[in-house]
Amino acid sequence: MKLWSEETIKSFRTTLLRWYDQEGRANLPWRLNHDPYRVLVSEIMLQQTQVDTVLPYYERFLDVLPSVQDLAEAPEEQVLKLWEGLGYYSRARNLQKAAKFVVDDLKGCWPESSDDLQELPGVGPYTAAAIASISFSEVVPAIDGNAYRVFSRLLKIDADIANTKSRKIFYDAILPIVDPKRPGDFNQAIMDLGSSYMTAKNPDSENSPVKEFNAAYLDGVELDYPVKTKKKKPIKQQFVATVTEKEGRLLFEKRPEKGLLSGFWTFPLTEIQNIEEIKGEQLTIKPVIHVFTHKRWEIWLVKQAITPNKNQQFFKPDEWQQLSLPTLQHKLLKALGEL
Ligand code: ADE
Repeated sequence: MKLWSEETIKSFRTTLLRWYDQEGRANLPWRLNHDPYRVLVSEIMLQQTQVDTVLPYYERFLDVLPSVQDLAEAPEEQVLKLWEGLGYYSRARNLQKAAKFVVDDLKGCWPESSDDLQELPGVGPYTAAAIASISFSEVVPAIDGNAYRVFSRLLKIDADIANTKSRKIFYDAILPIVDPKRPGDFNQAIMDLGSSYMTAKNPDSENSPVKEFNAAYLDGVELDYPVKTKKKKPIKQQFVATVTEKEGRLLFEKRPEKGLLSGFWTFPLTEIQNIEEIKGEQLTIKPVIHVFTHKRWEIWLVKQAITPNKNQQFFKPDEWQQLSLPTLQHKLLKALGEL
């Protein structure tokens, strides 16, 4: 990771904000003033949704509900209607809860720090920092996917952004760079940089206003940043869970001492290569799904009378209810109970 001198930091702020003043997206409707309500609505809408998609929704939402009081008092159906098409409707519900919290609990007095703003429903560290910096001039970095990408490249930060612990590494690296006089503009300039010259796949660093600060670009490794480990797809395995009932008792099997669910009691599980080869009476059409860190199990319940081997035992309901059963077995019992 590169460390910038105080001089480099000052020069970066000047360069970035000069570019932002000349070429930033100053006409975005949520940048017309710093009203925290307008900023909150924009930041919630912009989570998981592109600027171009958000624009018409944002304008309509603020036409109909221009103040935090209006949103707090609106019928929920009206809010959901205004949100229709944006998706992730829990955002809309939380947004209204946040408005009620400000109006009813805080008597219309907005929390002003990024810490306090995180008390609002649906407001996480990024959104809180965005509002605190834009509306209340708190000197705090707003770190979303854009900021991770931009700063990982500028400073060649190798921390894996898929790892939640990396957030602090980025926060500590960016905080001293945020312009103390214009923190909100600084954060929004980074967003604009991330959606223009420093995009994920097609950056244009050659023409970027901050080209000379971009360590990853200067070293020819820009597309290696941000570092993000891919989650491996879990390996799919298919099983039958054999259900054997005898005089009100159910047959369980103690799993081997090694491997997944070692030592737990479950229905006897047999791995199959292909569901067609099932013997016995198939009870479930859809499999029970159970996901481990690296494996995804699909399990069909199959009724079949089998003779217990040494690892298998019949239990009466009041007996198996005493056993400590793994979640997987609870799912299988639930599926059996729903037949
Ligand atoms: N994405 C998230 N917040 C934004 C903002 N304030 N301006 C532009 N894009 C954004």
